[in-house]
Amino acid sequence: MAATDKLQHPDVTPEMIREIDDIIESQKNAPGAVIPVLRMSQDVVGYLPVEVIDYISAGLNIPSSDVYGVATFYSLFSLTPKGRHRIRACLGTACYVKGIKEVMGRISKEFDLEVGGTTEDRRFSLEAVRCLGACGLAPVVVVDQDTYGGISADQVSGILEKYE
Ligand code: FES
Repeated sequence: MAATDKLQHPDVTPEMIREIDDIIESQKNAPGAVIPVLRMSQDVVGYLPVEVIDYISAGLNIPSSDVYGVATFYSLFSLTPKGRHRIRACLGTACYVKGIKEVMGRISKEFDLEVGGTTEDRRFSLEAVRCLGACGLAPVVVVDQDTYGGISADQVSGILEKYE
């Protein structure tokens, strides 16, 4: 069992620590336990703070650098918190040509949000993706499940203000 008092992080509640303990306990003798333990722990916390990675490595008795290596290698893992709303902006050719750069620039400026980042209040996360398959609508931004095509930088705040 990992040392419960070693995990201190504002986003991780005692209840979450208990769940992570159970996850570690249930997996620790399984070969290749690192990935399932990281995945399940990420489901519990929402992302993987470094403190959680250290805690898992202690619990599994695997060097922290190895666990960290796995967590950073797979795109399924996030080491930073995600916002309540996920903005995906398309950087494919059609969208690029039609001005997605300006749209992204406006998002970054108005919300102090860089690609791969999350706003301070955790309202939005911004990702850049390759072709969303809606090139006819370029430039395309998807917020959660909603697709916005043909948008201009000036429409950015109007669209995003709907998402609290
Ligand atoms: S290039 Fe943006 S949707 Fe295809």
